[in-house]
Amino acid sequence: MSFARNLLNIIILLCVYLNRGFTEGAQERESGRVDYHTIQLSSLSPSSSCVPSSKEYDTKSSLRVVHKHGACSPLRSGKAVKLDRADILRRDQARVDSIHSKLTNNLEDRLTQTGLPVKDESKSKEDLGSGSYIVTIGIGTPTHNQPLIIDTGSDLTWTKCRQCGRSRRYISLACNSKNKDIFNPSSSTSFNTVSSTSRVCSDDIRSTDIPCSAYRCCYSIDYNDNSSSEGYLAEDKFTVTTADVFSGIHFGCSEKEANINDNTAGLLGLSSHVLSFPSQTANKYNNIFSYCFPSPDRTGHLTFGSTGISSSVKYTPIKSLPKTHLYGLDIVSITVGGKKLEIPSTVFSHPRAIIDSGTVITRLPPKAYAALRGAFKENMKNYTTASAVELLDTCYDPKGFDTMSVPKVSFSFGGGTTVELGLNGILYPLNASHVCLAFAGNDNDGDLAIFGSFQQMTLQVVYDTAGGRIGFAQNGCS
Ligand SMILES: *[C@@H]1O[C@H](CO)[C@@H](O)[C@H](O)[C@H]1NC(C)=O
Ligand SMILES: *[C@@H]1O[C@H](CO)[C@@H](O)[C@H](O)[C@H]1NC(C)=O
Ligand SMILES: *[C@@H]1O[C@H](CO)[C@@H](O)[C@H](O)[C@H]1NC(C)=O
Repeated sequence: MSFARNLLNIIILLCVYLNRGFTEGAQERESGRVDYHTIQLSSLSPSSSCVPSSKEYDTKSSLRVVHKHGACSPLRSGKAVKLDRADILRRDQARVDSIHSKLTNNLEDRLTQTGLPVKDESKSKEDLGSGSYIVTIGIGTPTHNQPLIIDTGSDLTWTKCRQCGRSRRYISLACNSKNKDIFNPSSSTSFNTVSSTSRVCSDDIRSTDIPCSAYRCCYSIDYNDNSSSEGYLAEDKFTVTTADVFSGIHFGCSEKEANINDNTAGLLGLSSHVLSFPSQTANKYNNIFSYCFPSPDRTGHLTFGSTGISSSVKYTPIKSLPKTHLYGLDIVSITVGGKKLEIPSTVFSHPRAIIDSGTVITRLPPKAYAALRGAFKENMKNYTTASAVELLDTCYDPKGFDTMSVPKVSFSFGGGTTVELGLNGILYPLNASHVCLAFAGNDNDGDLAIFGSFQQMTLQVVYDTAGGRIGFAQNGCS
């Protein structure tokens, strides 16, 4: 009898043990500490072959999302694109400097439209160009597939356009290079230009700085990382999937780009501006979209409409920022390794924060970052420190370890929503002997905080502009 009971107990314990192992992941079995992730160091160097997501999107409105320099990227078939992680950080800082210079302190005065062409003399630059994730979307008739950077900070969608023998003003590199991947307006039967007198050619789009036919609505966007796009406004058919086809979508037909060094064809503008892609397709998708950003060797999704939104998504209100179409939110607190950081609430209340798909590393107010770094270091004492890299000042050399035990990090947002970051969102790997805490502090207390794409990795992020809310759930890609 007692033998039988003992056996039963052993079986129950074994089941509990195994179950914990499976549900909580490897870290449980190794350390028994729920507030830590155990990161397999070999998993930090992304695989050179693509591991597609096992998730089947039972929806007609989903596009595959890939890291533009990762193993699943369609851009790798052409010119070699390397995952240069230090360069990504440099471009990231340029974008953030630009967001800060426009949105900090006197929000009312210094602002130009974010994500839209700059046409005034101050020539403030756009904060774009550094986005990491791309989708492929069809433009024109017949459909021409274009890899576009996903950008929630960008209003206008634009794509490179072939200008064979058409443009007098600019040497047409596209035509010279015989690049068949570039969209050719003259071969699309549904293509139309937008005239300069059209309602769509509003002041915030039109540029008078560049030579332009009186009949065209020309734009010019200078990005802060020295890249730029110039062209004219057009409309054509956009094909998300064979079932979701939209005619007359307005976009920029780019005639000339500078310093866009990869094979991306342009940008998919996902801000809340009236010309953004979600706004132009609101009749069908209700101004709702969601995405999951995968790690570089995997695939995620960008889904329009409310299909596929997890029932475990928790929402926080969108806080609008004056004169921009960025997505503002409130960060309320941060927890590291199970301990809530002691940060005065005022640190996050002025100014606010935004969520941005084009910023990589999350930027925090200086006091919040100092607290986060302090708590992180406390938890990482077992590891050898390493030199700072670009904006990342807290780095480690994990040589000699197969795994690292890293404290879990979660963010609490307005409305009582707490989001635990994925295991990939905490350490930024430069290489096998150099990993860094993937957060940075702003220079000034008054600078906007930014919740970046690295921290969003593997989360499902929902933008419900109609409902005025942004949602998060874990395991959005797999
Ligand atoms: C942009 O160009 C300027 C002038 O050539 C240079 O000083 C700056 O470092 C460049 N910025 C980036 C992000 O490459
Ligand atoms: C550091 O290592 C010791 C010995 O392996 C371990 O007991 C301790 O939990 C580790 N500390 C942290 C913060 O990981
Ligand atoms: C790893 O990256 C760091 C920072 O970029 C660099 O200083 C170091 O030389 C790199 N090490 C190797 C082995 O590539």
